[in-house]
Amino acid sequence: MVTNKRLRQWVQEMADLCQPESVHWCDGSQAEYDQFCQTCVTTGTFVRLNPELKPNSYLCRSDPADVARVENRTFICSRNKDDAGPTNNWQDPDEMKDTLRKFYRGCMKGRTMYVIPYSMGPLGSDIARIGVEITDSLYVVTNMRIMTRMGQKVLDVLGDGPFIPCLHSVGRPLTGDVKDVPWPCDAENKFIVHFPEEKMVWSYGSGYGGNALLGKKCFSLRIASVMAREQGWLAEHMLILGITNPKGEKKYIAAAFPSACGKTNLAMLIPTLPGWRVETVGDDIAWMKFGADGRLYAINPEYGFFGVAPGTSMESNRNAMLTMTKNSIFTNVALTPDGDVWWEQMTPDKPPRLSSWLGHPWTPESDELSSHPNARFTAPAGQCPVIDPAWEDPQGVPISAILFGGRRPSTVPLVHQAFNWQHGTFLGSVVSSEKTAAAEGSVGSVRRDPFAMLPFCGYHMGDYFAHWLKIGKKADAEKLPKIFYVNWFRKTPEGRWLWPGYGENCRVLKWIFERCDGVENAVPTSIGYVPAAGAIDTSGLKITNDDMRELLRVEPHDWMVEVAGIRDHFMQFGDRLPPALWEELEALDRRLRKALY
Ligand code: OXD
Ligand code: MN
Repeated sequence: MVTNKRLRQWVQEMADLCQPESVHWCDGSQAEYDQFCQTCVTTGTFVRLNPELKPNSYLCRSDPADVARVENRTFICSRNKDDAGPTNNWQDPDEMKDTLRKFYRGCMKGRTMYVIPYSMGPLGSDIARIGVEITDSLYVVTNMRIMTRMGQKVLDVLGDGPFIPCLHSVGRPLTGDVKDVPWPCDAENKFIVHFPEEKMVWSYGSGYGGNALLGKKCFSLRIASVMAREQGWLAEHMLILGITNPKGEKKYIAAAFPSACGKTNLAMLIPTLPGWRVETVGDDIAWMKFGADGRLYAINPEYGFFGVAPGTSMESNRNAMLTMTKNSIFTNVALTPDGDVWWEQMTPDKPPRLSSWLGHPWTPESDELSSHPNARFTAPAGQCPVIDPAWEDPQGVPISAILFGGRRPSTVPLVHQAFNWQHGTFLGSVVSSEKTAAAEGSVGSVRRDPFAMLPFCGYHMGDYFAHWLKIGKKADAEKLPKIFYVNWFRKTPEGRWLWPGYGENCRVLKWIFERCDGVENAVPTSIGYVPAAGAIDTSGLKITNDDMRELLRVEPHDWMVEVAGIRDHFMQFGDRLPPALWEELEALDRRLRKALY
């Protein structure tokens, strides 16, 4: 019996609109999950993997027209267009609702409507928040059970309290002669819509990932960023890791990198330096609030990982591989003849025969990839061999350092530290990744992705910067996390990687750890503090002094070009760009000119 009146009313209204055959309230039990998976196997949505190789795990193949987040179909429908800002798609909320109601009317005919109460964050935590997703997709239900804490226990905590309503439909009613397909969707009419004032999400047409698992990007980033601004906390696209030094001292670090820059790899890093340990709290999202002691505490609102599969291997991310050995769902990867999964770069040798993500026979000679580049694994976080003992602590973990970063083959050193919080906010506001010759676009062109939040900020990015500045002003500066900018991807002009990356990144984390303890092992430059010569521990690493110098080099000429690019980037925010960030840019410009002349 659901006691929450508002929830009962909303579900009834949505059922009246979508007209499902029946309504199922998910209890979140293992038995329910197993039964849903079995239904998916029967309908052809899932293939059960070999239980001896991957117990309780499934392969799912999506419609080839529904394989990724669709940023051009993602909308922030604030009352005023200006409040969505220049980096979001906007439409008037009433007009959008009229449009979508037409699509939703009768969209669940012949299907079951599933109601998923879920908690983002440990149940009952002060930082956690509750959402309820209505969906007609069992793929969504089963993935939500891995990615969130869901079911009856959430309703018990919710009581009469508030929740974020999230409506989702794949948009394929079963009427007349329409037969169901393994991956129903309405590929021509996808809408991922957020109503920031009402704190509500409406998603239609897509069944994939962030478009459909509405607790993730839609709630935990776009809607939560709005809530965080109103309530004085931070909802960020950040991993959270714990790092312990050989003396047993531990610190927590949060890090924001644009999508596909290695957040999951860093979160699960295996340090190469003896005696150092890294443990994982989260790999994608951090919610951060100040504790009574004035420090910033973070929780991972998620309960699982929804990671990119291709490129993941025992070499690149052993801990991720060990996390997904059971109880996992694999989407758009290849199937081996013995009922296991494979994807590009999983093993040095390609298997002789596979069934591709499209269900085609595949051999190493095939022209097409075996797996879609955005193929995913969905795996319970608790199965990660290095999951942090405090990952479910309702208080969160105290954050000592915040990292920003992206892929920059040139200009940006391996690591630099902000002078203070305001300067750190500036560093976050200019996060960028550079396109290489291998990618589309011109070499050297830079895509700005402020705070790695470009596709995920639920309001005007200029106001978001102002919120970060305000957070810093209100806090005790001594207790705020130190802010750093890292770049694992610097190359020589000839295109050779300068830094080995992966487990060796712990050497940079070690320097950051020491900086948080106030160790004087840095030199001030125009752009911030850079490690002093010899301050990055390279013991046991084959790297020349010349390469280390190049990795840490700050070239004022290159940075003058950077300043011009940042000026263009800032211009788009008009008068909503906080003056403090213009001041930071001008101060950087002045320091660079002084260094040059
Ligand atoms: C993700 C993303 O899927 O950032 O996490 O795109
Ligand atoms: Mn992400």
